[in-house]
Amino acid sequence: MKPYDQTARTEEEIRAAVDALMAQMTLEEKIGQLVQSPGPATSEIGMDIDSDPLEDLIRQGRIGSTIFLGEVFQTVKDIEKLQRIAVEESRLHIPLLFCQDIIHGYQTIFPIPLAWSCSFDLPAIEKAAHIAAAEASCAGLHVAFSPMVDVAHDPRWGRVAEGAGEDPYLASLVGQAIIRGFQGKNLFDRDSVMACVKHFLGYAAAEGGRDYNTAEFSETALRNTYLPPFKAAVEAGCASLMTSFNLVNGVPSVANRPLCHDLLRQELGFDGLIISDYNAVAELLNHGAAEDEADAARRSLLATLDVEMATDFYNRHLPGLIREGKVDAALVDDAVRRVLTFKYRTGLMEDPYRYLRPEELRERVLCKEHLAHSRKLAQESIVLLKNENHTLPLSREKKVALVGPTADSLDMGGCWQFTSFPERMVTIRQGLEDAGFAVNYEKGCDIHQMIEGGMENACAAVYESDVCVLCLGEESLMNGESASRQSIALPQAQLDLLEAVAACEKPVILLLTNGRPLLLGEVLPQADAVLETWFLGHEAGHAICDVLLGDCEPTGRLTMSFPAAQGQIPVYYNHMNTGRPHPRGVPYIRFESNYMDGPNEPLLPFGYGLSYTTFSYGEITLSQDTLTKEGSLTASVCVTNTGDRTGTTLCQLYLRDVAASIARPVQELKGFESVTLAPGESRRVSFVIGEPMLRFYNAEKQYVSEPGRFEVMIGMDSEEALSRSRSFRLV
Ligand code: BGC
Repeated sequence: MKPYDQTARTEEEIRAAVDALMAQMTLEEKIGQLVQSPGPATSEIGMDIDSDPLEDLIRQGRIGSTIFLGEVFQTVKDIEKLQRIAVEESRLHIPLLFCQDIIHGYQTIFPIPLAWSCSFDLPAIEKAAHIAAAEASCAGLHVAFSPMVDVAHDPRWGRVAEGAGEDPYLASLVGQAIIRGFQGKNLFDRDSVMACVKHFLGYAAAEGGRDYNTAEFSETALRNTYLPPFKAAVEAGCASLMTSFNLVNGVPSVANRPLCHDLLRQELGFDGLIISDYNAVAELLNHGAAEDEADAARRSLLATLDVEMATDFYNRHLPGLIREGKVDAALVDDAVRRVLTFKYRTGLMEDPYRYLRPEELRERVLCKEHLAHSRKLAQESIVLLKNENHTLPLSREKKVALVGPTADSLDMGGCWQFTSFPERMVTIRQGLEDAGFAVNYEKGCDIHQMIEGGMENACAAVYESDVCVLCLGEESLMNGESASRQSIALPQAQLDLLEAVAACEKPVILLLTNGRPLLLGEVLPQADAVLETWFLGHEAGHAICDVLLGDCEPTGRLTMSFPAAQGQIPVYYNHMNTGRPHPRGVPYIRFESNYMDGPNEPLLPFGYGLSYTTFSYGEITLSQDTLTKEGSLTASVCVTNTGDRTGTTLCQLYLRDVAASIARPVQELKGFESVTLAPGESRRVSFVIGEPMLRFYNAEKQYVSEPGRFEVMIGMDSEEALSRSRSFRLV
């Protein structure tokens, strides 16, 4: 075998090599680079590329990349087989890019993204993404369809599980951490994969929380709410981007030239790959945005879509359109140039097999180090929602009844993971047993249904025990794509089980396994302690027990508000004020902006989460009360651990632009710091505020700050922070 050159080329060399290669390509071969096959595992579902077998299309140079899903050790063989066909049997020997949804781990599964965002631990998230890349890359995968950075306000939408919640600033930081973790310092590094930030743009704003649905929002909401994480991803050097499925202000993203070409490419300077979502080019017809297949191909290319996922309209129609002069061939060249550039940057053109490393794959998959990090991030993702009478941490002396449909379930991985080792998920029961508990386990009910005698057996177990650990929630399939729910309540059978168990008059510790904010108004009062544990991945049971027993503190904070009632949706902390604001905690007042039958505020706000100890925050001190454009000021508070255990508080900085040319939200997260304090210990926590933090897009689409008054709030969560504010002026 010829020894492959393993030195990275310079950008200049890459440009020259791409030009030289393109000079040899036929139009059909060029277009082939823009087609992404749904892969052998998915070609049966009706999205087939013509009716030709994938191998033939690869041989003909009509496929540039493919989605690849499969059992991990088989994957490496199958990818090698297809790559050999591309490299040895196609005319120009151009290797394929292999892509997969690597959302929260490849084989070692981490908490779902909504959960890991609650850790606010960016280095830990980055490391999780790096581990995923290190596993996936040696299986021969080159592109991870992640991070999803869609800012989401509607928990009915199942895909909230895949993102970082409702805050654009946090979503930007988390997205950048994932991109750094995937891509490392250089795409040439064999442990890196190309990130693919998605879904551009406003996918989460689907009306009614119904997946794929229309989104309509103003230009300023587009720029100030939905765009920031994508802009941050571009700044972090994200290699690729996926468009969203839905209509955005009337035009599907995939064919939305103002969005993709004008805003993303020209204004933000994105020169990576734009990839359509699965079948999205074909869906232009259903949207009423293209008359026929050729029209769909033309509109997508005009929007500067590079890679068409799972359909082949480009293959079938671009040659004709170009011959007829309806499409400029230069647009195809631009797209092909981008695709080939990445094939060079990853080193594939020199060594098409450099990522296929079965030996390393075996060593890495689910190795001790990867599982340890999964456990750490899982611990940090858990949010303590309630803890009355010091019910938690749980004493090892207690006799425990373990009840509920998620207590002994392996379904701990959550949506969007394709590990070949689902049986290695640690259940809550196993976690407790590994911690030395002899648990008295009763399932009680299924996720959706009662089971015969289940309730009686559960209550009998509770009566015999000192405490009940009740495990309720959703199953993975209730989250992710096409998993919208009209009701975000726990299923009725589980609510009945909770009521029965609570009536046994033993302390109830509720563990929630779910992928979206749930309706907990009637749930919280029935439990003494509640831990939001989400879907935590392979080490779920261990991490939950670590927190349950107090071996580590609960440090997670909610990144999406939990509504007090379903009718409040959308409810999020960084909303606008009204002309008739209604004071918090006050009953209904006519002609104010409020509900007759319930509060405006969510049950649990953004940033919320308790500790096993308590903290007090002093007043805010500002180093000065004016800020110049070039200068900075420091805002600080003294934080004290007022309890009797060492604990960690997440100190959160919020700002409000009191008056601006377009109204700004009542508060916006601008910084956070995790502070660990011993009992009685105090520390001053400081945030430096500079003019760039005050910028937003004005009505003229300029990214500016405007002089005037700003409020600074610092607190333990978004709502608590409102009780403590100081103001300064930007001059
Ligand atoms: C999803 C994307 C995903 C793609 C490929 C689509 O249905 O919307 O998020 O990356 O499939 O699996």
